[in-house]
Amino acid sequence: MSWIRDNTLNWFQHIAVRIIRAGHVPKHVAIIMDGNRRYANKNNVEKIEGHTRGFDKLAESLQWCMDLGISEVTVYAFSIENFKRTKEEVDCLMELASQKFQRLLDEKEKLMEHGVCVRVIGNLSLIPDKVKRHIAEAMFLTKDNNNAILNVAFAYTSRDEITYAIKDVLDGVKSTDIKIEDINDDLLSKCLYTYKSPDPDLLIRTSGEHRLSDFLMWQCTNTYIHFVNVLWPEFSVWDFLRAIFFYQRYYSQLIKEQGNIHLLNPIISSYIKKLYLKRTNMLQKMVQL
Ligand code: FPP
Ligand code: MG
Repeated sequence: MSWIRDNTLNWFQHIAVRIIRAGHVPKHVAIIMDGNRRYANKNNVEKIEGHTRGFDKLAESLQWCMDLGISEVTVYAFSIENFKRTKEEVDCLMELASQKFQRLLDEKEKLMEHGVCVRVIGNLSLIPDKVKRHIAEAMFLTKDNNNAILNVAFAYTSRDEITYAIKDVLDGVKSTDIKIEDINDDLLSKCLYTYKSPDPDLLIRTSGEHRLSDFLMWQCTNTYIHFVNVLWPEFSVWDFLRAIFFYQRYYSQLIKEQGNIHLLNPIISSYIKKLYLKRTNMLQKMVQL
């Protein structure tokens, strides 16, 4: 199935979308797509079929986000912890990802027409070369699109992300690009895998589990978190609209930070630019793998 789907809503669902759209819509929604294997068990199908249905649901949800005018979505597709699953399941998930990113590249006209930017956030060094090459190509191809942004967290955990951000900061100190006194939470935020994104406004987790599982822990300080008691492949547009509705109801109570309180000094800006250039060059090398 394609990443960019045609509209599947009926007229009643369309009206509901229009009503919700008239209220305050979150700009950035994060999703923990949980429950694929329980879905597979419940329906007597192979685990990989559960994950494939999970991908189909992702494509459907991206269409709902576009309909609602949500400009950025971050999904948890593969945690570093998931490498501890059986070799068979990990291999199947890597193969699924490889196929889906290949499909994404096959659909590049559609992607460019919709102005979709795809970013994969995570520890790319842990991913097999074949998948990494497709990921790097998709990221490179779409890097200048800005209509809609899809961040796919793949080989990701917050602890890993924060550990690597600290290493990048220490590299900056070691090379004397920055000083110890320049280190603050804003600098660290700018060294995370998510450095290009604002913090999520809303985080949805399916399957009835009430935890973050090491996902965007740094970024979710003021995020409204909504837990849904359905398995990810069964997540419906009504579940989604309900989550947005709850977000809207609580929006006015959320304490929102007003802009950036730490203005970056020129020394830090120049180190950050150098770091981002290093990351872009790494991506370019991966495309040539
Ligand atoms: C969590 O359900 C889901 C995953 C670990 C994989 C999610 C992957 C997809 C939806 C496919 C996305 C693919 C791409 C290329 C973006 P689970 O396996 O933890 O199920 P359980 O909670 O029932 O055990
Ligand atoms: Mg799970």
